[in-house]
Amino acid sequence: MTPLIIVDDLTKEFLHAVKKPGLTGSVRHLLRPEYEKKTAVDRISFSIDPGESVAYVGPNGAGKSTTIKMLTGILVPTGGKILVNGVIPYKQRIENAKNIGAVFGQRTQLWWDLPVRESLSLLKAIYEIPEREYKRNLELFTDILNLGEFLHLPARKISLGQRMRADLAASLLHNPKVLYLDEPTIGLDVSVKARIRQFIKQVNQESGTTILLTTHDMEDIEDICKRLLIIDQGRVIFDGELQAVKDAFAQERTIHFEVRAPLHLAEDALHNQFPGAALHIQNEGSHCSIQFNRFHLAAGEIIEFMMKRSDVVDIHIDEPSIELVIRQIYESNLNNQRIIV
Ligand SMILES: Nc1ncnc2c1ncn2[C@@H]1O[C@H](COP(=O)(O)OP(=O)(O)OP(=O)(O)O)[C@@H](O)[C@H]1O
Ligand SMILES: [Mg+2]
Repeated sequence: MTPLIIVDDLTKEFLHAVKKPGLTGSVRHLLRPEYEKKTAVDRISFSIDPGESVAYVGPNGAGKSTTIKMLTGILVPTGGKILVNGVIPYKQRIENAKNIGAVFGQRTQLWWDLPVRESLSLLKAIYEIPEREYKRNLELFTDILNLGEFLHLPARKISLGQRMRADLAASLLHNPKVLYLDEPTIGLDVSVKARIRQFIKQVNQESGTTILLTTHDMEDIEDICKRLLIIDQGRVIFDGELQAVKDAFAQERTIHFEVRAPLHLAEDALHNQFPGAALHIQNEGSHCSIQFNRFHLAAGEIIEFMMKRSDVVDIHIDEPSIELVIRQIYESNLNNQRIIV
């Protein structure tokens, strides 16, 4: 499959003015300006196939928004190459705009003083969207994102959650091949977040729209993305399937048992049964939880052990949290350990 997005050795440097404080500093800077170089994106390479859903993750200042701005054609790279659907974004901006949609959580693409409906119809004209396609999409998005209640209001009068829903609709009216989302759920309440995630997932699965999502919200990642790209200090430090990284990093699991009669299971009993396995047990009335390393033991073995000793009413296993996994990846990077999955 030909990748939809190809990023090769991409670099972006910014020049910061270095100015001493006070009037003297300002005057000196005016006469002999000094700048220092900041490498926001440092020789990164990756490619994304059509239909993928990728989380682009990293700490504050890592270079995520800068990358997305270069992919959308807003910023010109200092070095390296970008191709999106065969188009160089910053050189062929109009051509690129037809293929992409973008939502920046921090700012809107709607016209501030125009009713949302008018903004959308302006976009129809800009993108030359055929009437039938426009009507179909607007109806669909109004329905799923519940836009009806505020389409008549200007963007400045709607709430943040309403604005984000309107921005999502605006970014997808022209059926782009790829959707860039830069913190689309920032500051939203749980129900709006859930609605937005559901919508993005649907767009990815049903229309095959490729998703590149930047977020600090772990639930966004878990819900929407299959692949994880982690960037730190301008460098890609991890690129792989979300499930694979979870399996490799999160070795600790906990099984929770609900038993009919209170049970006092000693850790010794477990250690005798499974010598050498790292295990930890917690009893509390009719609740018993056993922490184990899934590389040492299979969940089934522990369940079988418990079933023999008590009347088990309910069982659930804690999945490793993606937050923990990502933290471990940051830390391995800090320690210069190679990340292999
Ligand atoms: N227009 C600019 N001029 C100068 N420096 C910039 C500019 N935009 C970004 N930077 C710098 O580039 C670095 C990367 O910024 P960027 O906005 O890409 O980070 P980010 O990963 O999106 O972070 P966050 O999670 O906080 O949004 C930062 O050190 C920032 O100060
Ligand atoms: Mg950012």
